[in-house]
Amino acid sequence: MSAPNIDTIVSLAKRRGFVYPSSEIYGGLGSAWDYGPLGVELANNVRQAWWRWMVYERDDIEGLDSSIILNRLVWKYSGHEETFTDPLTECRKCHSRFRKDELHKQPPDRFVRVGVSDTSGLIVSPMCPNCDATDWTEPRPFNLMFRTHVGATAEDDADALVYLRPETAQGIFINFLNVLNTSRRKLPFGVAQIGKSFRNEVTPGNFIFRTREFEQMEMEYFVRPGEDEQAHQEWIDACHQWFQSIGISGDNLRLYEQPKEELAHYAKRTVDIQYRFFPERDDEERHWDELMGIANRTDFDLRTHSKKPEDSEGKRLNPDSTEDLSYFDEQTKQRFYPYVIEPAAGVNRTVLALLMDAYSEKTTDKGETRVILKLHHSMAPIKVAVLPLAKNKPEIVGMAKAIKRSLQPVVRAVYDDTGGIGKLYARQDEIGTPFCVTVDHQSLEDEAVTVRDRDTWEQERVKVADLATYLLQRLTEQA
Ligand code: GAP
Repeated sequence: MSAPNIDTIVSLAKRRGFVYPSSEIYGGLGSAWDYGPLGVELANNVRQAWWRWMVYERDDIEGLDSSIILNRLVWKYSGHEETFTDPLTECRKCHSRFRKDELHKQPPDRFVRVGVSDTSGLIVSPMCPNCDATDWTEPRPFNLMFRTHVGATAEDDADALVYLRPETAQGIFINFLNVLNTSRRKLPFGVAQIGKSFRNEVTPGNFIFRTREFEQMEMEYFVRPGEDEQAHQEWIDACHQWFQSIGISGDNLRLYEQPKEELAHYAKRTVDIQYRFFPERDDEERHWDELMGIANRTDFDLRTHSKKPEDSEGKRLNPDSTEDLSYFDEQTKQRFYPYVIEPAAGVNRTVLALLMDAYSEKTTDKGETRVILKLHHSMAPIKVAVLPLAKNKPEIVGMAKAIKRSLQPVVRAVYDDTGGIGKLYARQDEIGTPFCVTVDHQSLEDEAVTVRDRDTWEQERVKVADLATYLLQRLTEQA
């Protein structure tokens, strides 16, 4: 089972402290969200798992943390100033603005016939999601980059204009030579980065799926031209597998080959990994949306940021860069611009996919419905909750607190005595804690505790002396 819709997760996330609407006491801020005590742990687990997999478990990747605000010329030569736009159209009746392509993704009953074409085909127009009208302005390109100014200058001083980065990738390209020279790497190798990006999205929404401030996990993998297609396919397969290794069901993931007309200006081929974010929609094709993109960016970026590079037609001169970002191959004695394979995932969409996928319900013997968040152990914000059976018994409370402190250096553990044991179990199930450890009267006699499994509700008696080893083994044995 997984969540029937995103709304179910919005409510759970707020109730249990995963994600709150941002600036709520001032009426909120559209699409901004804050990560609460459990959300920050879950997001950290995502970042750490990705970094471990991408950087530590391989021999060919370095890490980087570049600035959010870069020289404006980076975005001129990357092509973002000119082409990082969405087609914006406005409803003439209520003046709401939407992305034209998003309007056309509405279900069939949201289209109205407005005429007949010369070739006697029907002309249909999407209805305004706000007022149902069908009278739209001509779409115009709207640049998604957030603008700001550096220094104590006037707002309209063009020389002070800068952007908040819309992708982390460019920080990697402009540091290509720095990383190459300081790490003494040879092709193929990659540079990974996790960080915030910003896009002034026309239609943000669906909770943390599309926001104006979000976080990316990107890696640029530099290869010899000619080796790009195979490397691309290997990264597609590896990333597809990685999402399953952190607990997302393969049934809710699919690969989507971007058609030529959807490709970004730099891409030769892009495959998205999509997640079933919208299972409630009638049309199965509309269940899916992007979790991650894996692009073959060719040599576009290194070439475009190089001092005076010329393509075969003599175009794309860059007189502003001070460096040539080409690579000299010692073996073949050839100089060339490496091709780039880019796996680019969103932290926020991964968090949302994990929450949706882990959501399940179970009916108790008394007919009550319980929510259980069956998160992969590695993703669970809290691994173990230590609970005293009687909170008015100082010996039991003391023993439970001592056990929690002893587990603390080993796993993320919490102590909770704010309710009866049934309520405490239900709360931990709902936030995805894999194990509850209960200290009872018998524990004072036999130095043993009850360990309860979140998914099966089975209980096992374990000696306190063996508890840390037992829990570590159970936590890591999950595939
Ligand atoms: N450097 C390539 C790049 O930025 P992208 O497909 O635009 O590619 C990569 O973004 C990932 O970043 C997406 O797959 C998605 O997970 C995440 N992402 C992009 N825009 C987002 C937004 N407005 N809100 C949340 N996540 C977003």
